[in-house]
Amino acid sequence: MAAEEEEAELRLGGPFDRRTARLEDGVFRGNAVDLPEEDPRVRRKAKGFEPEQISLSLSANHDSVWISWITGDCQIGSDIKPLDPKSAASIVHYGRTRHPLNLQATGSSLVYNQLYPFEGLQNYTSGIIHHVRLTGLKPGTQYFYQCGDPSIALSDIHFFKTMPVSAPKSYPKRIAIVGDMGLTYNTTSTVSHMRSNEPDLIVLVGDVTYANMYLTNGTGSDCYSCSFHDTPIHETYQPRWDYWGRFMEPTLSEIPIMVIEGNHELEKQAEDKTYVSYSSRFAFPSEESGSSSTFYYSFNAGGIHFIMLGGYTSYDKSGEQYKWLEKDLSNVDRTVTPWLIATWHPPWYSTYKAHYREAECMRVEMEDLLYSYGVDVVFNGHVKNETHALWTWHRNQDLYGTPGDQIYIVRQPDKCPTGPNERSAEPKPAAADTQNLLKSATLGALNLPRSIGAF
Ligand SMILES: [Fe+2]
Repeated sequence: MAAEEEEAELRLGGPFDRRTARLEDGVFRGNAVDLPEEDPRVRRKAKGFEPEQISLSLSANHDSVWISWITGDCQIGSDIKPLDPKSAASIVHYGRTRHPLNLQATGSSLVYNQLYPFEGLQNYTSGIIHHVRLTGLKPGTQYFYQCGDPSIALSDIHFFKTMPVSAPKSYPKRIAIVGDMGLTYNTTSTVSHMRSNEPDLIVLVGDVTYANMYLTNGTGSDCYSCSFHDTPIHETYQPRWDYWGRFMEPTLSEIPIMVIEGNHELEKQAEDKTYVSYSSRFAFPSEESGSSSTFYYSFNAGGIHFIMLGGYTSYDKSGEQYKWLEKDLSNVDRTVTPWLIATWHPPWYSTYKAHYREAECMRVEMEDLLYSYGVDVVFNGHVKNETHALWTWHRNQDLYGTPGDQIYIVRQPDKCPTGPNERSAEPKPAAADTQNLLKSATLGALNLPRSIGAF
């Protein structure tokens, strides 16, 4: 096979066996139904200051990861007393073997509040949130860890695997891309489907818990503004974040998640503070990637450079995010990370009426810059239901010099079957049936071949 043909083969099909797990039939209920607070998967089992809601995030490179958890219970009501973040230490014991865990790292802790300047709304204060960064890790290596305060309580022993080294032909085997998650029965199906595909990394492109669809008394609604016309501020029921953290812990204590903010994370409160829960609960490699914000950052996952952009902070050409993006892009070495993937929450292109051209201003500011650096794929969330494509990256054809390289990232299971015998009669976009895309109602996963030819 000629080198060019071989390269095209690698790009389109990938030198890998498909192991895509189908979504179970009949699992979706139509309208989203939230998991109730009495569900055992979201109830607090930790006692006192035992660690809970453990999660992993990547740092900017393979040699470092973040471990986060919460100790102590949250409070909600009119008379809350924030916990002292110093009352439980932030320590991780870790190592390449389960016994002994001969390395130790320490980190920092914080408590955040969600406060309302009105009578009748219930204020919230979180448990103590701990973030610890492990450094000096080897690539593609399993590590065991235990987190907490050794003088109070430590977690069970968990394990994770670091990303492969950043280089061509060095990729995580599978990455799950998910957006608009919530905490509904549909979410449970999505997460179980995602886990059955054994991803090495989860990228969450915004809209995490939908806690802002609840009043502070815990009353929820599918349509907040339909049900509650006159609330003085858009309330948000912060315990839903704790429920989400508990539900996700079995997954996120083993598989790192990288999150970018969506509109549901805005959660306005007193003094016009916004995005406080999002910014407090997750660890971001902002500092490691030269960003001064939790709203935008970048990281490497093997030979992929991920750029996480903020659709709800300034994206003007004169702003900090744009300047950071210019610098980050100029530092990308495509001989080290051949793939360049960008994500943000609201798509620039979509047929979805409710959010049509909502992010047009961001597109006008940033598209040329991303194009000039040859971004390969963009993942977005936000649009739901009948949209035809989350993204078509139609502008970088000239990089490849061949037609038909248009990449569609879609999530219409009826039009994009996962098996060779399940193809519908519907015509599909040129590359929509490439075997490396997996679709479900709320989840798409891009299977990356272990080795990809040079671009
Ligand atoms: Fe959204």
